[in-house]
Amino acid sequence: MLAITNRLLRGRASPTGGESKIAEPPTPKPSPELPLCFMLSHVEPDGPVRLDGVKLSVTEVMGLELDEAKLGAFAGALNACDFSLQLLVRQHPPDLSRLRRKLEAAQPTQLTAQTRAAADSSRRLLKELESRPGVLDRRFYAVCEREHAVELRGVLARAGLSVHPLNDDALRRFVIATALSGTPTDRSHDSESVAEIRRTELIVEGRLQRSLHLSKWLRSLAPGFLQQLMSTGAPMDLSLHLGPIPPAQAARQLEWQKVRFESARSMTLRRGKSLSPEAEIALEDISRLRDDVQRGRERLFNASLSVTLHADDSESLAELTQRASAHFAATLGKLDPLPFRQREGKLATMPLALNSVATWRTLDTSSVARCFPFSPPDLDTRSGALYGIDLRACAPVVYDPWDGTHLNANTAVLARSGSGKSFATKLGVLRGVSRGVVAYVIDPEGEYADLARAAGGRVFSPGVPGQGMNPFVVGQADPEELLQRIGSLRRLVEVMVGERLSAERRAALDHALASYYAQSREHSGFRDFYRFLERDDPEGLAKLLRPFESGSLKHLLSDDGDDLLKHEALATVFDLHLLEPELRPAAAMVCTETVWSAAAQDPKPRLLVVDEVWSIMQHPEGAAFMVSMAKRARKHRLGLQFITQDVQDLLSEDTTRTITGHSGRALLQNAAFKLLLQQDAAAISTVGDAFDLPTDLQRWLLSCPRGDGLLLAQGQRFPIRIEATPEETDLIEWRPGQHTQPNQQNGTPS
Ligand SMILES: Nc1ncnc2c1ncn2[C@@H]1O[C@H](COP(=O)(O)OP(=O)(O)OP(=O)(O)O)[C@@H](O)[C@H]1O
Ligand SMILES: [Mg+2]
Repeated sequence: MLAITNRLLRGRASPTGGESKIAEPPTPKPSPELPLCFMLSHVEPDGPVRLDGVKLSVTEVMGLELDEAKLGAFAGALNACDFSLQLLVRQHPPDLSRLRRKLEAAQPTQLTAQTRAAADSSRRLLKELESRPGVLDRRFYAVCEREHAVELRGVLARAGLSVHPLNDDALRRFVIATALSGTPTDRSHDSESVAEIRRTELIVEGRLQRSLHLSKWLRSLAPGFLQQLMSTGAPMDLSLHLGPIPPAQAARQLEWQKVRFESARSMTLRRGKSLSPEAEIALEDISRLRDDVQRGRERLFNASLSVTLHADDSESLAELTQRASAHFAATLGKLDPLPFRQREGKLATMPLALNSVATWRTLDTSSVARCFPFSPPDLDTRSGALYGIDLRACAPVVYDPWDGTHLNANTAVLARSGSGKSFATKLGVLRGVSRGVVAYVIDPEGEYADLARAAGGRVFSPGVPGQGMNPFVVGQADPEELLQRIGSLRRLVEVMVGERLSAERRAALDHALASYYAQSREHSGFRDFYRFLERDDPEGLAKLLRPFESGSLKHLLSDDGDDLLKHEALATVFDLHLLEPELRPAAAMVCTETVWSAAAQDPKPRLLVVDEVWSIMQHPEGAAFMVSMAKRARKHRLGLQFITQDVQDLLSEDTTRTITGHSGRALLQNAAFKLLLQQDAAAISTVGDAFDLPTDLQRWLLSCPRGDGLLLAQGQRFPIRIEATPEETDLIEWRPGQHTQPNQQNGTPS
């Protein structure tokens, strides 16, 4: 047993540092000591430096998902590596303390008590997730010598993976975490940690770590083999060291093996016996591999696999060890528990690019690519809000649609009726509002009004006297923006009049709008435009619009400036359920256009939910309007969230169906996030084709419980569970009359 005290550090190693110093107690020198136990000299801003002076660099890799195309690309990237490489996967309970602090800091002061209670409960849920059994944060890293870092990042990026070099504080946190166990957290760099090395385990800061080494490799490597090991839900670090064998040497090696097999075969045949099927297959494999190596399609690597398991007590550690060993034994592999060599085992799973266990096995590129465990929780960016729990990776799915790293902030929610679309959306609105994301909801069923009121927001009922909207405000729009607004308003007018305008009328309307805005942009409003139109109206457009000016629909539009912005509430709901169903599309467009004009004047993260989007999409002009809105939303930091249960209509390529042409698909193409909850049996094949889902996922989407679904983002699929706390559910659940009376502040109409 060896007790050591180490300090984890900023400075350089003292020149006298060496193995012999390990057992010495910490010296009270002013400069901090170095973690010699972990073979580290020091950590520079762009990478750790090993005790032997080798400078390393660490790259976090994202986007590794287990599908054939990606595997091929990853194998291609490995083929291009001419240097030693360490692939490191770490999975540990997540540390969500930073996220909780960020959420707390972003919480607006004007939240109602009920919303504040919900926000508090949501943070408690994050805290609970940190210790929930099985919930782990899985991260992938590639470590190599620093001189090869640029090349490595280049080949990984070309394989379609996203690469994030670890530098400065993030790097330091990472290195400390690899030494001490757990996810990288804000720990004082100068804190002292006590480590003790025992025969078959290491105790660091009171936690047990056991390193194991794969001493006997499996007969065959099935895709995702290590993925299955990691999904046992144990905290672990898994490290695969790869040393490329030069192709000429590899070809020689294979040629020699081939000759050996062939001579064995001819001897057998000469003795009048036939060759066993296994020997035939082995000979074929060797010949094929030799050809592939010579053609540059495959290469050979010296590979070595080590695992460090982490547990709080010896019973759990014994159980985890047993589980891991059984996993390998099932395919005739064998894990060596490394008695008296725990330190070497631990070093092999640290980001040191050092195979201290020093046993190797030769693997070809495809086997390496195949055995590596993929599908990490890539969306977890440690900022934004909690959207759900990744059921496969057992990790919280946290992201911020407005952080600028996504194509846009739009989300499409597609699922059958009653599957929890509105629930998921309301939860998103609530969690958004709790961190200051202003939300607008176009609500044809009137089911969001209670939530808005409880959150101290406003509820408008377009069509009720005094609650009209003014989408004709354009403010300070630049010429290009103005042109687009004119196009939107033209489409709006077309939906308002309820018919597709003739080419002449459409041209006249366009001209009228352009002339109107050329004349004056101040005080622009529907009635003002109507009067302008009446003055010179050869196409009789004003007559078509008269019901909105003085007839039965006169309360839908108002002339009052940008009221929405002046008193912007955290949540605003446009409740359309009192309107006649045929008027709802026009009203929904009026509201959308009004929110757009607010967003154009003051861009900031805003969410605009359009529930039952098919009601707008069934009009050709409405569909074009929504598509153009989805395309432009990013410009003004607006995140559109459209919800529909008519998945088949939305995705249909049949132009005779209600949702016209390909606009449904165009709408989806402009959503960076897609949430598919439980699907209808009749629609599943359309959904499966549209999103290229494998059959097992299609089957799962038919039978998954309410609140479970598939999130598609950044080209990946995350099976997630949408989980709300009781406090949040209380606010979200739509029970008529349950919530407090309308908040009169902000002039909220009842
Ligand atoms: N994630 C969830 N957790 C707990 N309960 C849920 C969840 N999702 C949905 N529910 C329950 O299912 C009910 C129906 O969900 P919701 O109203 O969201 O369905 P929907 O898909 O919007 O249906 P519709 O198509 O009819 O609008 C909710 O009132 C809620 O009780
Ligand atoms: Mg609904």
